[in-house]
Amino acid sequence: MGFRDDFVWGAATSAYQIEGAVNEDGKGVTIWDEFCRQSGKILNGENAATACDHYHRYKEDIALMKEMGIPAYRFSIDWARVLPEGTGTVNEAGIRFYDNLVNALLEAGIEPYMTLYHWELPIALERRGGWMNPEIVEWFGDYAALIAERFSDRVTHFFTINEPQCFVGLGYLTGGHAPGMKRSLSDTLLMAHNVLKAHGRAVQRLREKAKRPIEVGYAPTCGGVYPESEKPEDIEAARRSYFSIPEDGNWTWNVPWWSDPVLLGHYPKEGLERFEAYMPAVTDADMKLISEPIDFYGQNIYNGWCVRAGKDGEPETVERYTGFPRTACGWPITPEVLRWAPRFLYERYKKPIYITENGISCRDVISLDGKVHDPQRIDFTARYLRELRKAADDGADIRGYFYWSLIDNFEWSEGYSQRFGLVYVDYRNQQRIPKDSAEWYRQVIQTNGEYI
Ligand code: FCB
Repeated sequence: MGFRDDFVWGAATSAYQIEGAVNEDGKGVTIWDEFCRQSGKILNGENAATACDHYHRYKEDIALMKEMGIPAYRFSIDWARVLPEGTGTVNEAGIRFYDNLVNALLEAGIEPYMTLYHWELPIALERRGGWMNPEIVEWFGDYAALIAERFSDRVTHFFTINEPQCFVGLGYLTGGHAPGMKRSLSDTLLMAHNVLKAHGRAVQRLREKAKRPIEVGYAPTCGGVYPESEKPEDIEAARRSYFSIPEDGNWTWNVPWWSDPVLLGHYPKEGLERFEAYMPAVTDADMKLISEPIDFYGQNIYNGWCVRAGKDGEPETVERYTGFPRTACGWPITPEVLRWAPRFLYERYKKPIYITENGISCRDVISLDGKVHDPQRIDFTARYLRELRKAADDGADIRGYFYWSLIDNFEWSEGYSQRFGLVYVDYRNQQRIPKDSAEWYRQVIQTNGEYI
């Protein structure tokens, strides 16, 4: 048992977090460009104008991946780099950048996994109503068609949308991310519906224009849930809790609202009842579009909470003990989540699963010896991967794992304060230093996970 022989080992990034070159070669302005310009939005007043300068250094970054023996790379396209206005005229210089990137990856023997939307909406579309405007379904569909036309001769694996929970919840409900709005429940439910329809339309248009057979997936997120024990009642309580919708706070932070429509063709009943008065009009045709079949299911999983069956049998959250382990950004370290969440997802949605993101931010520094020692990252990843292997042993169809991130990068409103990379970036001079974890991951990959 253990990981499949063809298990996909990868590393992930996203366009806005690494590329820089925000004003170069005809790239259009995005909501993140504008958000970074507003004072007080990004920690220390930082921005992504240069980020990791990957736009000019992609060859070096690919060479690093090759040295690490990483066989798969998940990255995203900046919509406004290829379509500056979001629709209409194509920016050939932007296409050329991704062409060069894809070609260099393939030359290095690295399989590209391309994400269409990792949060930087072209500002021109935001001004036309963005995700509130139902026309976005076709805007996104046309963008997907362009991507298939230009890249599907070489790229086989596509993801439509990354973490709708975050860009709707943080961007338009709590306001901590671009474009920094606090909209109503009914507005965000309408946006969510348009996001889901846009996903479905992109699946259709990708397939319609594909030059070869392609595989299409989706990459949502959410905290996971794991049971306190292996008693059936605790497992059931954890499962129920994982697929429920929070009663207060940020409603977007859940799995079923974003995944049941895509995989099961309907919204979860619990949410429909709670949100009844705020729901947009939903037609059968919408649900058919949203549930356009996909090939695999991606989930970004960083941590989760522990649940047991309470005295009344209802799920009860187990409190974290004093001094509970946490990452540099304060996220709890909960390896068990990588056993149980994928298993629950596989049971419910019955699709092959990729862990499309998982990783840790550490207070990495360059040591006296010039190296970056990150034992905590190695320990974190080993613990999580051991649990993921158990999920595979339990029978879940786990196809791959993408460590977040290949390199340190611009962590959205946290600026450059959080280092998630296997490779350290010295932002003073853009020097890359593979951390100890890079060599460790190389061995994990080489032994197909035996090394952990
Ligand atoms: C995820 C995002 C990714 C990165 C990691 C740390 O929510 O998809 O861009 O910020 O968290």
